Amino acid sequence: KNIAIFASGNGSNFEKIMENIEVGYLDHIHVTGLYTDQQDAFAIERARRFRLPVHVFNMKRYDNKEHYETAILKQLHRDKVEWLVLAGYMKLVGPTLLNAYADQIINIHPSILPSFPGKNAVGQALRYGCRVSGATVHYVDSGMDTGKIIDQMSCPIYPDDTEETLQLRIQNLEYELYPRVIKTIIS
Ligand code: GRF
Repeated sequence: KNIAIFASGNGSNFEKIMENIEVGYLDHIHVTGLYTDQQDAFAIERARRFRLPVHVFNMKRYDNKEHYETAILKQLHRDKVEWLVLAGYMKLVGPTLLNAYADQIINIHPSILPSFPGKNAVGQALRYGCRVSGATVHYVDSGMDTGKIIDQMSCPIYPDDTEETLQLRIQNLEYELYPRVIKTIIS
C-alpha cells in the first residue's frame, strides 16, 4: 500500500514508521514521500537520510486552502497514494483532501481523546491534575482531533512529572502504537 506521511515539525513518529518498514515489521507499506507545510521542518532532514522524496507545500503561496490542498492532491495522485498518515501535521485537513481520501486519513494525538484535543495536550493533562494520559490514533474528519478512535495506549502521570518527562513517556507509546495501527488497518 502506498502511504504519504504528513509532518510539520520534528518528525520522530515519521522516523519510527520508516524504521519499522526497514526492519520488515511494516511489510507491504511503501512511503511515497514526506509531505510538509514547513520548509524548515526537521522531518525533512530525517527524510533525506532515508532518501525519501520531500514535498513542501507552503500555504502562503496559495490563495486559499482549497488551492493549497489541490496542489497537494495532484502530487498524491502522481504518487498513487492510498492513505494519508498525519504525524505532527499542524493544519486542519480541509474538504478537498477529506473528500478525496474519505476514511483513508489517520492521525496520532498525545492524549486520551476525546480529552484534550488541539495544541499542547500534554501540558493540559498535566495542569488538570490527570493521573493517566496516553496517545490516540484516530480517523481524521473536519474537526480538531475529533474523528473516530482506532486505538489508544495509556500511561501514568506521576506527581513529579514535568511536560518534558510526560511528553517523553507519551512519545514512547506513540512509537509503538502508530506502527501497530498502520500494520493493522493499512497493510
Ligand atoms: C506527536 O506527539 C503527535 O501525537 C502529535 O504531534 C507530535 C509529533 O511529534 N500530533 P513528532 O514530530 O513525530 O516528533
